[in-house]
Amino acid sequence: MNRRLFLQTGTAAASSLFLLKPLTVFGYAANSAIWLGLLGCGNRGTFVATSFSNNTSAQVVALADLFADKLDAGRAHFDQLNASLGRAPIDSKLLFRGPHAFEQLASSPDVDLIQISTPPFFHVRHLEAAVASGKHVYCEKPVGIDVRQATQALKIAGLVKPAQSVDVGFQCRSAPPIAAVADRIKAGALGKIALASGYYYAPASKEKTHPGAGPDEYRLRNWLWDRALSGDILVEQNIHIIDLCNWLLGARPLKATATGGRNILTHYGDCWDNYQVDFTYPGDLHFSFSSKQFSSDSLFDAGLRLFGSAGSASIPYSGPLRITGAQPWAWQDAASTAPGSGRFAPNGAFSDNLAFADRDKERSFIDSITSGNTHNQIAAGVESALSCMMGRMAGYRHREVTWENLLAHGETYQLGLNLDQFA
Ligand SMILES: NC(=O)c1ccc[n+]([C@@H]2O[C@H](COP(=O)([O-])OP(=O)(O)OC[C@H]3O[C@@H](n4cnc5c(N)ncnc54)[C@H](O)[C@@H]3O)[C@@H](O)[C@H]2O)c1
Repeated sequence: MNRRLFLQTGTAAASSLFLLKPLTVFGYAANSAIWLGLLGCGNRGTFVATSFSNNTSAQVVALADLFADKLDAGRAHFDQLNASLGRAPIDSKLLFRGPHAFEQLASSPDVDLIQISTPPFFHVRHLEAAVASGKHVYCEKPVGIDVRQATQALKIAGLVKPAQSVDVGFQCRSAPPIAAVADRIKAGALGKIALASGYYYAPASKEKTHPGAGPDEYRLRNWLWDRALSGDILVEQNIHIIDLCNWLLGARPLKATATGGRNILTHYGDCWDNYQVDFTYPGDLHFSFSSKQFSSDSLFDAGLRLFGSAGSASIPYSGPLRITGAQPWAWQDAASTAPGSGRFAPNGAFSDNLAFADRDKERSFIDSITSGNTHNQIAAGVESALSCMMGRMAGYRHREVTWENLLAHGETYQLGLNLDQFA
C-alpha cells in the first residue's frame, strides 16, 4: 500500500492498524519526506513552499499554475532549491498548467500535501478539490471572498477526514512573540478586556505587466486591486489583524459600522485604499480598526492593542511587544526594533516580531501530519473572513451591518471572465 492509499483509507482501516508502530499510523515516519504540490507559483506561494522545504520534512515535488511563465519560474526556483538540499529536481510529469491544473494536481498520487497560494477568489474552489482528494492542505487566507464562498467552505470543512490536516495561512498567530503574549492574555493578564484598537498601514503594490497580456490576463496578474479576485484590502490583507483580534478575544464581532474609500489610488482596480471600521463584540466591546494601502513611501505599520481592567497589551508587527499593568511582561527582543520600523514584504516575509511566524506555522502544520494530531482550521478561517466581509459591507453600504444581515444578504461576487481562454 503506498502512502497516499494508506492515508485515504484513514479511519476506515483503523481497526487493522493496531499492529503498526505509532509513527507510521498516519503513513509518515517523523523523518520521511512529505511530498508537497504548490498551486500558484507566485510571490507568496514560492516563499511559503521554500520555507516548508528549509524548515520541515516537506519536499516540493509538484507545481501547478495558470500561466506558463509562472510555472517555469517556479520550476527553476525549486529545482535549484532541491539541488541545494540534496533532493531530486521536479519531474516534468508533475508540472501542471492552465485552468484545470488544480484538478490535475489534486488527482496526482505523488502528492501528499497541496499548498494553495492562488488569488483569493479561487481559494474555496481549489480547497474543495484538494480536500476531496484526501490530501493534506495548506490554504492561504482568506477562506472565501464572499458569503457564498464562505458557506461553501463550511460545507468543505465537514468533509475533511480525520486523518487529513488542513491549515489556513494565518501565520501571525504562530510568531513566537505573539504566541507568548496570547498565552498570557488567554490566562487573564488583562482582566476584563473592554476595548481593542488595530491598524494596518501598508504601501501600494506595484503593477504587474506582462507582454501581450489582454484585459482578462491583466486582471488576473493584478488581482490584488480587483474586488472580486481579492475581496478588497479588508478581506485580503487587513484580515491578519482582525483574525488576531478574534483569536485573542475568543469571539467574533456581532456588527460593524465603517467608512473608507478610494482617495489616492488612480490605477486599475476597484478596491478601496483606506478603511475605518468599528466592530462591536459581545459585551459591548468595541474594536476600532483603521487601514490604508497606498503611497510609495516605505511606511509600514500594523498591529493590535487590547485594553483591559488589569492591563493593556501592545502587539505590533515591529517594535516593543508587551503587556503593561498588573502583570507586566515584554518580549525580550522587543526593544531592538522601533515602532513602525518594519519593512513591508509583499510575500509576507516580515521581520521583527514576525520573523519566525512562517517557520513555526509550517512546523506546526507538518507536526500535525506526522503526529496524527490533525488540524481542521477551515471554520476558524471562515469566521475571520466573514468578520472582514461584514466590515466591508458596512463600508460599501454606509450603514451598520450585523452578522445576520451579512449572512441573510448572501453577497456574491462574480469573476466575470472565462478561465478556459488560458487552457
Ligand atoms: N499570509 C500572508 O502573509 C500573505 C502574504 C501575501 C499573500 N498572501 C496570499 O497568498 C495568495 C497569493 O498571493 P501572491 O502575492 O503570491 O500572488 P501572486 O500573483 O504573486 O501569485 C499568484 C499565483 O497564482 C497563479 N494563479 C492565478 N490564478 C490561478 C488559477 N486559477 N489556477 C492556478 N494558478 C493561478 C498566478 O499565475 C500566480 O503565479 C493570496 O491569497 C494572498 O492573499 C498571503
